[in-house]
Amino acid sequence: MPSIYEELFSLTGKTALVTGGAKGIGAMITRTLIRAGCTVFMTGRSQAAAEDLAAELGSDAPLIFLQHDLSQPQGIQAVSAELSKLCPRLDILINNAGTFNAAPLGDTSNDSWDQVMGLNLRAPFMLVQALLPLLEAAGSDAEPARIINLGSIGGLMPQSNGGAYAYGCSKAAIHQLTRMLASDMRSRNINVNAIAPGYFPSDMTSGFFDAVPNLRESMLAQIPAGRFGSAEDVGGMVIFLASRAGAYLTGSVTALDGGLLSAP
Ligand SMILES: NC(=O)c1ccc[n+]([C@@H]2O[C@H](COP(=O)([O-])OP(=O)(O)OC[C@H]3O[C@@H](n4cnc5c(N)ncnc54)[C@H](OP(=O)(O)O)[C@@H]3O)[C@@H](O)[C@H]2O)c1
Repeated sequence: MPSIYEELFSLTGKTALVTGGAKGIGAMITRTLIRAGCTVFMTGRSQAAAEDLAAELGSDAPLIFLQHDLSQPQGIQAVSAELSKLCPRLDILINNAGTFNAAPLGDTSNDSWDQVMGLNLRAPFMLVQALLPLLEAAGSDAEPARIINLGSIGGLMPQSNGGAYAYGCSKAAIHQLTRMLASDMRSRNINVNAIAPGYFPSDMTSGFFDAVPNLRESMLAQIPAGRFGSAEDVGGMVIFLASRAGAYLTGSVTALDGGLLSAP
């Protein structure tokens, strides 16, 4: 008889795509899924970051890098065409790639708005559209395919956080997209959930902390858990959402923030 952990949480033999999977939170998720026995396709623009992660995980790791820029529709079409040639089914899609910018109200340009919305909102939607046949091929009533979107507490809180208007709106919209897709797709054997992280170490958060003196210390002081998020925190959430344990959960948006927003 399998252990309760194997029965509920095993991901052995599953195939996953992690967008932006070589850096930051995406790399935390890629490492977790590889250790859990998945074959992982990861996207990104940086060949060097992908090579570094591949070297860290070792040549035996079933990790395939698809180098594409997802900010424009051509990149989405290219990655989905390449993936469709390489695998007939996709069990897990992690829409993680994202970008951030902030500026005073009068200084937000059309281009910066479009850049954030293009990558954070349009790309996940178009990727789901393009990969629907692969996700449907993987899902069954008992074991649906899984889409996990990376939202943000920035899409849940009212503050603009220094003028992150496009970012906050893109993340609020991805939470809503999660619920709408979940509503349409459970009957097609695909579950859709979102993780809304608080603060996790990454290039994105390093940028905030470099830009604003003492922000790191003041953020830490506000997080009831007293620390930033870790690979285990987001990895554990992904394992739950992607495994048998999470098969009955769809349309959820979970703040993963050490209580910053949820339990201040
Ligand atoms: N870190 C946090 O505390 C935090 C909090 C809330 C939400 N989030 C969300 O979590 C996700 C990951 O954030 P992160 O902090 O890990 O950010 P990050 O360190 O800046 O990583 C962003 C990832 O997206 C990829 N990417 C960026 N632009 C791209 C493009 N045009 N085409 C394809 N890929 C692109 C990057 O790879 P390349 O540069 O190689 O393209 C990288 O892998 C994002 O959706 C973010 O909004 C993060």
